[in-house]
Amino acid sequence: MLTIEALDKVYKTGTFGTSDLHAVRKVSLDVQRGEVVSLIGESGSGKSTIGKMVLHLLDSTGGSITFDGRDVTRLGFRARRDYYRKVQGVFQDPFSSFNPIFKVDRTFETLRRSYFPRVSGAAWREKLEEALGAVSLEPGDTLGKFPHQLSGGQLQRLLIARALLLDIELLVADEIISMLDASTRIDVLNLLGELKGRGLGILFVTHDLSLGNYVSDRVVILYKGRVVERGATAAVFDDPLHPYTRDLLASVPHLDRTWEEVEAEESARSARLAGRCLYHEALAAQGRALGDEVAAGNTPADDVGLVEHAPGHFVGCFRKAADEECPAGV
Ligand SMILES: Nc1ncnc2c1ncn2[C@@H]1O[C@H](COP(=O)(O)OP(=O)(O)O)[C@@H](O)[C@H]1O
Ligand SMILES: [Mg+2]
Repeated sequence: MLTIEALDKVYKTGTFGTSDLHAVRKVSLDVQRGEVVSLIGESGSGKSTIGKMVLHLLDSTGGSITFDGRDVTRLGFRARRDYYRKVQGVFQDPFSSFNPIFKVDRTFETLRRSYFPRVSGAAWREKLEEALGAVSLEPGDTLGKFPHQLSGGQLQRLLIARALLLDIELLVADEIISMLDASTRIDVLNLLGELKGRGLGILFVTHDLSLGNYVSDRVVILYKGRVVERGATAAVFDDPLHPYTRDLLASVPHLDRTWEEVEAEESARSARLAGRCLYHEALAAQGRALGDEVAAGNTPADDVGLVEHAPGHFVGCFRKAADEECPAGV
């Protein structure tokens, strides 16, 4: 459904736009219907930049974004409107998505005016109640209120309901759980699971590895704007290849295990991986020589240089990702 290939973003920074900040580097990923794909990385790794490019809120510098085979990087006004019928985003801070001086139903009225001008009042109310029901909200409890009278979780669910009114096919959820309290988090996560069950594709952006593990079918690990590893969630979490992924995993507290157990596991894993470059190994396993890949332009610095370690499980060159020298001299 959504396919991103070799996506690049360079921000012009500095007073006169004279410096370049390469925020996203040759990122490729895809999201299919009824699937949650998590985009995981620490703050500043380029997650939101990717989300915004998918949502057409930001121009890309290179690469392509296609939705059902159609290029969506350059859409005219009308085509953009059609695209937003199918693709919507919900962001971290639900408070900033509402104008504090208006009651929240205004958000829905705006949507109605632009997308459903010919729908009758009664039909619209029915549609609205259905969308609010899907996110377990009572219209009477929420619609007539001002944003400050509602909790973060309620506002977040209103935003998801707003997206659902459009019968969307893809939801970009950017850190939507971060600002919620623990009990609401579970509600929103369960809601995402339900929506997925109904065929919605979700690009779930998070810095929280355990959330990524909880909700997603596949994960994409981002580091300094590059994909360093991606694959089925179970494959990446059970057998993390990239040192960055392993670091992330090691830093997640494990409530069910003692520190001794965690440390023993970590050191066993480090011993297993010590001195080995999994990128080079994966290439060799495929009978590919690094020199040939470089000559072909598939340099390890690019996402296109990811190699498939096991079916669907890709890993990148970590030395290049960390801007270190490659011991093989590449
Ligand atoms: N509008 C912008 N102008 C210049 N630099 C930006 C802009 N937005 C983000 N950046 C920079 O791009 C990098 C990636 O940011 P972002 O996509 O927000 O990362 P994340 O969502 O993973 O925290 C960061 O270094 C950030 O400072
Ligand atoms: Mg972000």
